Amino acid sequence: MSTPRQLHPSVTARAYGKINLHLGVGDPGPDGYHALVTVFEALNTPETVTIELAESDSVEVTGRRAGDGIPLDERNLALAAVIAFRKRTGWGGRVAITIDKQVPVAGGMGGGSADAAAALVAVAKLAGFDDRAVLEEIAATLGADVPFALHGGIALGRGRGDDLTRVLSQGTHHWVLATSTGTLSTPDVYRRVDELRDQWTAGGHSAPGGISAPGGQVAARLADPTEVLAALASGDVEALAANVHNDMTDAAVSLLPDIAHVMDEGRRAGAHAVLLSGSGPTVGFLAQNATHALELAVLLEASRGVREVVRTTGPARGAHIVE
Ligand code: C5P
Repeated sequence: MSTPRQLHPSVTARAYGKINLHLGVGDPGPDGYHALVTVFEALNTPETVTIELAESDSVEVTGRRAGDGIPLDERNLALAAVIAFRKRTGWGGRVAITIDKQVPVAGGMGGGSADAAAALVAVAKLAGFDDRAVLEEIAATLGADVPFALHGGIALGRGRGDDLTRVLSQGTHHWVLATSTGTLSTPDVYRRVDELRDQWTAGGHSAPGGISAPGGQVAARLADPTEVLAALASGDVEALAANVHNDMTDAAVSLLPDIAHVMDEGRRAGAHAVLLSGSGPTVGFLAQNATHALELAVLLEASRGVREVVRTTGPARGAHIVE
């Protein structure tokens, strides 16, 4: 491990939001976290984090999402990242953090995780610390999606979603994201997944998706999404669209029924694929190309329950320093 030393008074880094092209959810473990098999794609919605040496720690959010209910104390993931970095490395600096947010807040798109990843890269540079493996370790302690925000691109995630393998892919994906006027808490949606499964089991029904044998259910949910991986490798957007999947969809819709309406609007508007982003409530629509994305965006903007429509592309990079 290299010893932190101070080199730069101010450093800016960037990381990106994500969508899960596949999200298979298994059972909760003893720590309450669910076993996952997921395919992340980083999207070109940047979070830009600037870290400056200061007398004491502070967080400021700028840009159009300032004031969207983002905590400015240690609950803020960028500050949590700096605190975790200090604890792990012994670095003693205090910092003023400025976050320029593009990722919709609390949407299931990993904006807070991107803040944490960008903050880690920035504070490491500020401290003259360059041990990437240690940054990855710290990232995993901050949240299930933080290691991916550090990694970027497209990756298969196992475990809590933090055990990552790079996925080969070709081409650019055009996405339209519709954020919701309602909100969902991630732990609530995971809990609802468990409740719905308990109800189906108690009722003698098989879980949606045609998976019936109880012993086989978890194994099937946690199987590798081979069709998605093959479609990414060959750059076949049609095949990708036909195979994207999110196990949390029914749970999120049951908590926020407007999500189903937004999904239907996207289908009617000709989206290739309609996909809940993470635990929601943001919904992603895969478009054929940039023109199709613009058409979809215009139609979705007028939709009930939609707060905001964002057009973006993927895959995007991992967390990096902005010179
Ligand atoms: O790790 P992160 O803070 O992003 O997760 C938020 C919450 O989502 C966790 O506290 C847990 O309740 C739930 N979660 C889960 N299984 C995962 C990831 C998250 O149950 N693999």
